[in-house]
Amino acid sequence: MTAHPKTFAVKSFGCQMNVYDGDRMGELLSAQGMTAADANQADIVVLNTCHIRERATEKVYSDIGRLRKHGRTPMVAVAGCVAQAEGQEIIRRAKVDVVVGPQAYHNLPDLLAKAARGEAALDTDMPVLSKFGHLPARRRVPPSAFLTVQEGCDKFCTYCVVPYTRGAEVSRDFAAIVDEAKALVDAGAREITLLGQNVNAWSDGVGRGLHTLIRALDRIDGLARIRYTTSHPNDMTQGLIDAHRDVEKLMPYLHLPVQSGSSHILKAMNRSHTRDSYLRVLEKVREARPDIALSGDFIVGFPGETEADFADTLKLVDEVGYAQAYSFKYSPRPGTPAAEMVDQIAPDVMDDRLQRLQASLNRDQEAFNAATLGKSCSVLIERKGKLPGQMLGKSPWLQSVHLMTGAAIGDIVSCAIIQAGPNSLAGSEFAV
Ligand code: SAH
Ligand code: SF4
Ligand code: F3S
Repeated sequence: MTAHPKTFAVKSFGCQMNVYDGDRMGELLSAQGMTAADANQADIVVLNTCHIRERATEKVYSDIGRLRKHGRTPMVAVAGCVAQAEGQEIIRRAKVDVVVGPQAYHNLPDLLAKAARGEAALDTDMPVLSKFGHLPARRRVPPSAFLTVQEGCDKFCTYCVVPYTRGAEVSRDFAAIVDEAKALVDAGAREITLLGQNVNAWSDGVGRGLHTLIRALDRIDGLARIRYTTSHPNDMTQGLIDAHRDVEKLMPYLHLPVQSGSSHILKAMNRSHTRDSYLRVLEKVREARPDIALSGDFIVGFPGETEADFADTLKLVDEVGYAQAYSFKYSPRPGTPAAEMVDQIAPDVMDDRLQRLQASLNRDQEAFNAATLGKSCSVLIERKGKLPGQMLGKSPWLQSVHLMTGAAIGDIVSCAIIQAGPNSLAGSEFAV
């Protein structure tokens, strides 16, 4: 173990909020005078884990093994949702130095100091959002920055670990969020993505929902684009839908997971929406913002899913025409009700359904991209491309766009889409 660690690496494995947490842990360690380094060289490695599917958890243990190869002995801190769910077991199985949960990582420096003294360093407490008050100010941020506004989940879908690893739904304070947004813009952000496990359940405590926050951010000079993720269909209020019509900075993109197209499976999942109520929400959103790009999450092979249920999912996909989507094989998670259900689906059936679903989703994504050919749009430049003079950025519909331009990272340029592939577009900048 290194007596005076000077360098650190944070590796994040999960959702956008996990990435946000990882960035903030990095900022904490920088504020301690440490510098960022490659994971293979750093004195301290923070593995910021995800518990959502089985493979995510296995990865943690193989990563710990890999870090300790070749006689290297960096301090290892396991953070994130696996730390929350399996803290004690990790310490037993892998002899790591620190285990810290997603609600306690503001204590990371203290925990590392404890570990360096040879003391046990585990903190998986869930104090109500106190961590945000203990984190250092944001200094250098990318043009597109994340901002956590809501954490936790009260929905208890029967397959999901998030309510257990992240705790109950809590909204951050309105003023603190607006302050952090301003600090992000001062530090270089042009786009802010508001994050929450159920971000559209955000509330200021006196009945004002996410649209109030979006309208407040709309007034920040220098902020050009607003996004939010992930939303639950039941929390898509009329106020939020109206914001898609009224707020120009709110980008025409909505990630609204449905999981299955079968109302029978949705019920077994405890999703509390039906196929029809989900489709009605999308209809209203499209009415408010006709060019909106829709995205979703799908699980195939939930216990009891029949071929007819799966056909309903494929039909829903055809009906909606997603611009982009994520799809997963159902993974039984310890402690969740679905893991105990009879009628678990055989792996080869899941493989087959996933392939068929992804073929449909890929087809729709390609069609969505192809439909932008010849259109003009803005691109927020995020990084350099491979070729000299080439830059990469995002369209309003969250597509990757590459183009030749003299613009700098953080600039927003106008271009025509001249090529559309399955995963990215090529743009041609309009002369200014
Ligand atoms: N709060 C968000 C998403 C959280 S997890 C929501 O409700 O939409 C992200 C995605 O992982 C989920 O939408 C779901 O599609 C997938 N997921 C969650 N638990 C899973 C499990 N046990 N097996 C497979 N996929 C899962
Ligand atoms: Fe998990 Fe459901 Fe909560 Fe999303 S809404 S985090 S899927 S329990
Ligand atoms: Fe994974 Fe935790 Fe996010 S389980 S998906 S890192 S909330």
